[in-house]
Amino acid sequence: MPTALEELAVQASTCVACRLSEHRTQVVFGMGDPAADLMLVGEGPGAEEDRQGLPFVGRSGQLLDRLLLEEMGRTRDSVFIANTVKCRPPGNRDPKPDEVETCWGWLEQQLDLIAPAVVITLGNFASKRLLGTDVGITKLRGSAYPYRGGSLVATFHPAAALRGGGAVLAQMRSDFVRAKLLLDGHGAGR
Ligand code: URA
Ligand code: SF4
Repeated sequence: MPTALEELAVQASTCVACRLSEHRTQVVFGMGDPAADLMLVGEGPGAEEDRQGLPFVGRSGQLLDRLLLEEMGRTRDSVFIANTVKCRPPGNRDPKPDEVETCWGWLEQQLDLIAPAVVITLGNFASKRLLGTDVGITKLRGSAYPYRGGSLVATFHPAAALRGGGAVLAQMRSDFVRAKLLLDGHGAGR
């Protein structure tokens, strides 16, 4: 029997609800442990993600894997990684507001089914959409927010650390530690 999350992935794989469906190779639904206590939400697939059908498998993904391991002792198979829009915006342009809204239903169902204790949002698009705010990531990061019965930690997108260097990376590290402390305080195994 397929799980509810597997069924959702099958449904999403043929989604043509917004114009991003026209340019994608495939829908990048997300990957990881369907019962994960930690979920990470990025912006949208890039070229490599569109090719492989998996989230964060390019340079940003390598940095994300490093941060998970070095600051939280976690590997990507023990968390769930998804994106705000599930199809690659052409030329890696920003997702448009109507695309984020149209795609929200998939992410919302993922959040409901996985029900993580902690969500880390990576960058402006995920952080603003999940928190329902126009406040930018520079202001949002550095705090944890109550979210869907758990907590949300907003941090920069790894691409910003790749561009911006040490200061951004140091702030991301402290945000990942913040998420780890929340998970540790949340009780064994959850
Ligand atoms: N950037 C994102 O926001 N998501 C990915 O999956 C890859 C790069
Ligand atoms: Fe559907 Fe989301 Fe892809 Fe748009 S980006 S076609 S809403 S899966």
